[in-house]
Amino acid sequence: MSSTRTSEYPIDKQFLDRWSPRAFSDRPVTHEQLLTIFEAARWAPSGSNLQPWRFFYGVRGEPEFDTLLSLLVPFNEGWAKNSGALVIITSVTSYDGTRPLNTHSFDTGSAFMSLALQAHNLGLIAHGMAGIDYEKTPVVLGLPENLKVEAAVAIGYQGDASTLPEALQKREVPSQRLPLSDIIYKGRFTGEIKTPT
Ligand SMILES: Cc1cc2nc3c(=O)[nH]c(=O)nc-3n(C[C@H](O)[C@H](O)[C@H](O)COP(=O)(O)O)c2cc1C
Repeated sequence: MSSTRTSEYPIDKQFLDRWSPRAFSDRPVTHEQLLTIFEAARWAPSGSNLQPWRFFYGVRGEPEFDTLLSLLVPFNEGWAKNSGALVIITSVTSYDGTRPLNTHSFDTGSAFMSLALQAHNLGLIAHGMAGIDYEKTPVVLGLPENLKVEAAVAIGYQGDASTLPEALQKREVPSQRLPLSDIIYKGRFTGEIKTPT
């Protein structure tokens, strides 16, 4: 697979340059950087402006980091332990227990992208993870019933790929995307749904 990304149409370079490496350097991430990253997420759009995203974080070297690390599946724990900060992203499913927020996950996904691009703009990686223990996480974090665990994120400075196990070193390249023609339809559905390789 090519490790260079090109767009079919002109876009801002941050969309091509952001990617999700797994090798982190041991350079710390500051609380101030994290607050800037969460600030960007705060300004994401959401259905009826209900802002369902809620973030739980820990900075490496502080006890919360180890707690969050213990919620990752072993594969993710193996590389994310070297990140500078870990975040668990949750979303509010209903504010009053009766009216569901139909777009809570959709809205929170857009907050994740804001977070990821702000991290990128600070020269940091933000690597999303669904490989977490979805049963244990609400218990360990003491979540109320209307907070749904969405995903985790490892944040930090990119490190040398040689620090990773060999199998992961080979995967340490920016990925490609389906062509535009496979993801857009002018009006009605036509053709087939292509699976990314
Ligand atoms: C919601 C979500 C869950 C993900 N889960 C994992 C994961 O558990 N482990 C992992 O190594 N990468 C995970 N990733 C990273 C994706 O594999 C990566 O974003 C995708 O291959 C596109 O590559 P890019 O981010 O480098 O552009 C996840 C990304 C997202 C957005």
